[in-house]
Amino acid sequence: MTVDAEMYKAGMRRLAASVAVLTVGLPDGRRHGMTATAVCSVSAAPPILLCCINRNSAARAAFSEANNFAVNVLAASDRALADRFARPMDAEERFAEGLWARDRTGAPVLETAIATFDCERSHSIEVGGHTVFFGEVQAVRVRSEHIMPLLYAHGGYGEFAAARPVPLPDLMWVPDWRTEV
Ligand SMILES: Cc1cc2nc3c(=O)[nH]c(=O)nc-3n(C[C@H](O)[C@H](O)[C@H](O)COP(=O)(O)O)c2cc1C
Repeated sequence: MTVDAEMYKAGMRRLAASVAVLTVGLPDGRRHGMTATAVCSVSAAPPILLCCINRNSAARAAFSEANNFAVNVLAASDRALADRFARPMDAEERFAEGLWARDRTGAPVLETAIATFDCERSHSIEVGGHTVFFGEVQAVRVRSEHIMPLLYAHGGYGEFAAARPVPLPDLMWVPDWRTEV
């Protein structure tokens, strides 16, 4: 028995997910980025993650061209960036908003992200309508736990509410407001 695609999507809309902007730095200096929820940890040692990108997207072509990518996990306050990187728009123009820098691999990293995973792209596999890209994580940046992630469920954005108060740790990383790309 085949499952109806709409029923599948209805189920998936209930799987709340953190929102990230995936970015690549191309060899000629161009950048590309797109909003994504299909990001998953694969292994901690060695650190490997995966992300799933629609085969018909411009992002997919850019990911195939580059040997790097970064996963920028958005803070609830960066919701406008989630909209911007999901709208049809010139790839470079998307980066006109946000504080962008580069870390180890040359992929664009967002200074205000709550976590960034800077990856070297390893292999990829084609599954259904998507390409699954695997990334070997070269650098991780995190900000303190009291900066909450942007979540997506039921076709809309929301915020995480902790069941009990999150202790305030030392600030782990302050965005560098002077950074220029
Ligand atoms: C909350 C949200 C999550 C998304 N997650 C994914 C995803 O995981 N994979 C994907 O291929 N597209 C995803 N998209 C759609 C892309 O962001 C969108 O198609 C974008 O325009 C692709 O960039 P491009 O046109 O430059 O290829 C998502 C969109 C939104 C709003």
